[in-house]
Amino acid sequence: MIPSLPFLSASSHLSSDAPSPAPGLLIVFEGMDGSGKSTQAKRLAGRLEGRGHPVLLTREPGGTSAGKKIREILLDPDLPLDPEAELFLFEADRVMHVKTVLLPALRSGKTVLSDRGSDATVAYQSFGAGLSREFVSALNRVALGGLVPDVTFLFDLPVAEMALRLRSRGDGPTRFELLGSDYFERVREGYLELARIHEGRTVVLDATSGPDLLEEQIFGELSRRYPERFVL
Ligand SMILES: Nc1ncnc2c1ncn2[C@@H]1O[C@H](COP(=O)(O)OP(=O)(O)O)[C@@H](O)[C@H]1O
Ligand SMILES: [Mg+2]
Repeated sequence: MIPSLPFLSASSHLSSDAPSPAPGLLIVFEGMDGSGKSTQAKRLAGRLEGRGHPVLLTREPGGTSAGKKIREILLDPDLPLDPEAELFLFEADRVMHVKTVLLPALRSGKTVLSDRGSDATVAYQSFGAGLSREFVSALNRVALGGLVPDVTFLFDLPVAEMALRLRSRGDGPTRFELLGSDYFERVREGYLELARIHEGRTVVLDATSGPDLLEEQIFGELSRRYPERFVL
């Protein structure tokens, strides 16, 4: 299936066959709400831009024009969604994001920082909401067309700490109380299981660390993995 899709043929970010020398790098920030992803994605983007490095900061859902509308539907508390309908919306967002944002940016050599990606869909929709793992993974494969992150930073945070942070951010406890702490415990475990399965590309961060330490850990990891690209 993958080789027959023409838009995929030129990238080394494809999991199939021998890598070709595509210049970009896909870095995905994963973890639960309040774990510090956006803070660190912005810090890394600023740091790289400050060095004249070509960077694209984007997110899922909502990284395209259609995706912004999809995100509004997904986040609207007045639009309750069946879990499968929700899954299809996340994947529709992902198709647009991969084809029109991620692949073009990677092909042009950018370092792409994505605030969430397909691991979130497995963690939330399968581990959290209980949809079949095979089903979620199959839809992810179609939407990704073989694209895999080069590095995934997982911000791991205890659920109680997450609830505290969301309250202090002013999000209110509504979403948390609606879904319940068991749901978020399953999501956290899901993320950690994915980190074990994809240990080569995943870096688990202790999200209770301070923002400055996390920033140094992230940049340090990238400069170890890609010393020519990210000089400390
Ligand atoms: N390392 C950190 N330690 C403590 N609080 C943090 C840290 N990073 C971010 N925060 C705070 O936690 C809240 C959520 O951070 P944010 O970056 O928006 O997380 P996410 O994007 O994962 O939801 C914000 O109020 C932010 O100021
Ligand atoms: Mg965020």
